[in-house]
Amino acid sequence: MAGLNLRRTLFGGSDIAIDLGTANTLIYVKGIGVVVDEPTILAINKGDGSILAVGNEAKKLIGRVPDSIELVKPLRDGVISEIEMAEELVKTLLSRAIGRAYSKPRIVICVPNGVTSVEQRSIETAAHATGASEVFTIEEPMAASIGAGLQVFEPVGNMVIDIGGGTTEIAVISMGDVVNANSVRIGGEDMTERLIEYLRSEHAMLIDEGIAESLKHAVGSAFQFDKEPQVTVTGRDIVKGVPKQVLLEASDVRDALAPIVNEIIEAIRISLSRTPPALVSDIDKDGAWLTGGGSILKQLDRKIAEELGIPINMTDDPLSTVVVGSGICLERFEDFRTVLKSSPKPN
Ligand SMILES: Nc1ncnc2c1ncn2[C@@H]1O[C@H](COP(=O)(O)OP(=O)(O)OP(=O)(O)O)[C@@H](O)[C@H]1O
Ligand SMILES: [Mg+2]
Repeated sequence: MAGLNLRRTLFGGSDIAIDLGTANTLIYVKGIGVVVDEPTILAINKGDGSILAVGNEAKKLIGRVPDSIELVKPLRDGVISEIEMAEELVKTLLSRAIGRAYSKPRIVICVPNGVTSVEQRSIETAAHATGASEVFTIEEPMAASIGAGLQVFEPVGNMVIDIGGGTTEIAVISMGDVVNANSVRIGGEDMTERLIEYLRSEHAMLIDEGIAESLKHAVGSAFQFDKEPQVTVTGRDIVKGVPKQVLLEASDVRDALAPIVNEIIEAIRISLSRTPPALVSDIDKDGAWLTGGGSILKQLDRKIAEELGIPINMTDDPLSTVVVGSGICLERFEDFRTVLKSSPKPN
């Protein structure tokens, strides 16, 4: 029972880093590592508002719930849109992983670079609501750079491109600070929506988000690749209401995703154009780092490299880079104190 061991290890409380993402929530416990990695989604009973399922269990219900149940995604475009639901999700996942042993931890919570002060406050409030003794925030691109193992305090330009579910954040980091950042509110979930829309408009077929996401993972790409597969997608015929199957080529899926991929590339181009020349030359030499779940799209690294003429490096585990980077800040708190911002307790 991993949970019990964790509980024992953590007796008396320990420090925690949280990456509350649009698509996935990850929690890192100091001295242990990543203990929670689940989708940011809850199933709610519409009648009495009770929570029926959280995380993986709730995601399995996509496309299968009756009218009496609502699936809630408490983040939109990287920021909290339903604060109470976000708090419930974090509390539930945390207590499921480590019980009540997390009482009064120090919490580091990741915030997207492009958030407004109101959005930032709601993320901090969710962290305080878990019973933290102290809350710090860290900008996601900074956390991603640390998680990718980059030398963030050196006078060298490090470019990190984090393609998440709801946002893409591009940042250039040098000497322990974000030199410039560009955040666009598009990501992997927009790719999934494009596929739903493509099948609706081109094939008069309805598929749900779960099927569209599996299709994207299986055959989605940004650039031609060897032995491109075909895939049969099953959905509902919009006109007749009966089951329908469509055979798609990988190139069909790639064409459907292209507008989103191009928007991401444009955002990177803008970011490069705003970067001081000396730092651009560092990026040209060392390459930019690609992370976030959206970056796993096949051949996306190649497409970006071809379009922008800079080398692209992939991080080892794109889905956990941000939380691992925040976790490193907890492990080596004094070394990384300057990249953390203290958040006062709300009244
Ligand atoms: N193999 C894959 N191919 C394409 N996309 C993938 C793959 N695996 C995961 N993704 C996508 O990655 C996205 C989730 O990435 P991630 O967990 O980094 O987002 P997030 O941190 O929750 O979101 P954000 O940072 O925008 O708030 C989802 O849209 C998911 O479909
Ligand atoms: Mg993210």
